[in-house]
Order: sequence, then structure tokens, then C-alpha cells
Amino acid sequence: MTVQTLTIRRPDDWHLHLRDGDLLRAVLPASASQSGRAVVMPNLKPPVTTAEAAIAYRERIVGALPPGSAFTPLMTCYLCDTTAAAEIRAGFDAGAFAAAKLYPAGATTHSEYGVTSIDRIADVLAVMQDIGMPLLIHGESTDPAVDVFDREAAFLQATLRPLLARYPRLKVVLEHITTAEAADFVLCDISGRLAATITPQHLMFNRNAMFAGGIRPHYYCLPVLKRERHRLALRRAATSGSPAFFLGTDSAPHDTQAKQSACGCAGIFSAPVALQAYLTVFEEEHALDRFEAFASDNGARFYGMPPNQDTITFHRSPMQVPEQLELPDGRRIRQFLAGETLPWTLA
Ligand code: NCD
Ligand code: ZN
Repeated sequence: MTVQTLTIRRPDDWHLHLRDGDLLRAVLPASASQSGRAVVMPNLKPPVTTAEAAIAYRERIVGALPPGSAFTPLMTCYLCDTTAAAEIRAGFDAGAFAAAKLYPAGATTHSEYGVTSIDRIADVLAVMQDIGMPLLIHGESTDPAVDVFDREAAFLQATLRPLLARYPRLKVVLEHITTAEAADFVLCDISGRLAATITPQHLMFNRNAMFAGGIRPHYYCLPVLKRERHRLALRRAATSGSPAFFLGTDSAPHDTQAKQSACGCAGIFSAPVALQAYLTVFEEEHALDRFEAFASDNGARFYGMPPNQDTITFHRSPMQVPEQLELPDGRRIRQFLAGETLPWTLA
């Protein structure tokens, strides 16, 4: 019999861009209504590179929450070549940082202050390994000679493999994986200290979506969508039951004008429909019984945090996705799956 309602432990979002100011206030309610906690990315302008900045950003997020919301932002430190190991240790001990984010310099939106070489942050990584602080990685090669569609696979061999060998106890999350190579890489590591987040767009679309009848900037994110065989591998990984894969939306809102331009920016705003989208994928894969582990259990266990105690319920009732979110100043943010109908509604 077809399942009509589904109740699971409340999920967390282990990779989220909340931005700041008016944009933060506009996008936060969507995540706060879906997730218990979220790992908040630090790629603001300027980036969040100190415990003091992380605490101030957390206060702005909490101050923008709808009344009564129990949403908890988990803050991250943006690693630079100059990040001090002492700042990382003190920020983690004080609870200001839950993790640190490694952006290879130039890999993505606001990554220009990122790390130019792993050697530059050797003492930071040694401290993180010692204190059990997770390293979150944007895993793409920045070598301009590498084809944009091969950047993740190239990163695995050129950077991630030696990094893991050099820090055998460092906890690492490979963020928003997009390839069969990355899924296999994570599955082959049996130490339990390597995990990966997977976004809804990489489970639902392949790279053809960016070029269907014309160029479609709202399907452009980084790492970029890949071929169909990669999408299928990601769906197998997410629904495999392996504890190494968990939910991270990478919801990354940008003003529609900034995306629809001669040099449109990367990022897909999925927060309002992320859970309904993931659930649709798990149902298509006949894996509804594995959805809760992916969405609500695996990430908390990897981060060493208690699972959420409350639940959420989905009803089988079609929901039409709104086209866009409008800001008070007139800016608009196009939503992931705009105008489409999804089979599940979040109660
Ligand atoms: C993110 C953003 O806009 O901040 N964009 C994206 O396409 N995912 C940055 C990132 O996570 O790479
Ligand atoms: Zn991201």
C-alpha cells in the first residue's frame, strides 16, 4: 500500500548558506521551519575567519529567527593561509566553531581569501585532528588546466588523498559531492572519519538541465551538475544506508539579477523545498525506510552531536513550488523547482 504520511526525526542541514542582512532575514524562515540545526557556511563578505566574527554572525542569525523557532545555527570558520591554529583551538573549545571550511582559493563564490596550498595550513589541520574538529572541504581542483567537469575527481587524487594520509585521524566532510568518483572514494574509506553531504539538485538533475532549450542559469551551482551516470551513482550512495552520506542542501540564494547576467553567479536556493525534494528522490529509489538515517541521523552521529528529539511529518498531498521569494526592497530570489509540483507536503 502506498504510504500516505511519513513521520521522521527532525532533520538537520549540514551545509547551508544563510547570507546576512536583508537576505538572511528573507531566507532564514525556510530553513528554520525544515531543519533543527544547520552548519552555516562562512563565505560572507568579508568571510567569517575568527571566533569573534562567528559569534557575532550567530547572534544576527538567532536575532532574525521567527518567534518561537528552536533552530540552532552551527558556525564554521573560513580557513585562510593565515589562519592561526590557536584561533581554531580556542574557537572550537568555546563552542564558537563547530567545524572549519576549506575553500581552495578561487574555487567558488567568495573563495578568494581561501587556502592556496594545504601546506600553508599544516599546523591548523594538526590541531583540528587533535581536538576532533571536522574539516569541511569544497573538493574541486583550482588548476585552470583542469576541465570544469573534472575538477572534483582531480581534487580527490591530487589533494584529498595526500591530505587524508598526512592526517590519519582528521575528521573530513567532502561537501556537496557530484561524481561517482567522490561517492566511491567515500565508500572505500572504512575508517569512519570521512563523510560526504549530497544536495537535492545533484540527486535530481544532470548537466543537461543547464542547457535545456537555452542556457538556464538557475541550474548553475558549484560544483557544477555532472553527467547522468554521476547522478545515478549519487542516488545509490544517498539511499545505500551507508552512514557516511548525509543531508546538506548547499542552499545558496542569489538575487535573480546576479544569476541572470553575462557572468551569472553559482548557487541554487533550495531551502524552502529541500526536504520535499530529497523525500521524492528516496521514494523514487524505493528507499523511504532509509530517508531518516540520511536526513536526521548520520550527520549528527558524524559530528558527535545528539540527534534531534522532535519529529516532522510529511503528507502525500501535491505541493506547487512558488516561483520566487521577494524581498522588501524588490529583489527576487528564484527557487529551486520553481513552478513544479512535488508529491509531498511538509505538515
Ligand atoms: C555557493 C554560494 O553561492 O555561496 N555557491 C554554490 O554554487 N554552491 C558557494 C559554494 O558552496 O560553493
Ligand atoms: Zn556551499
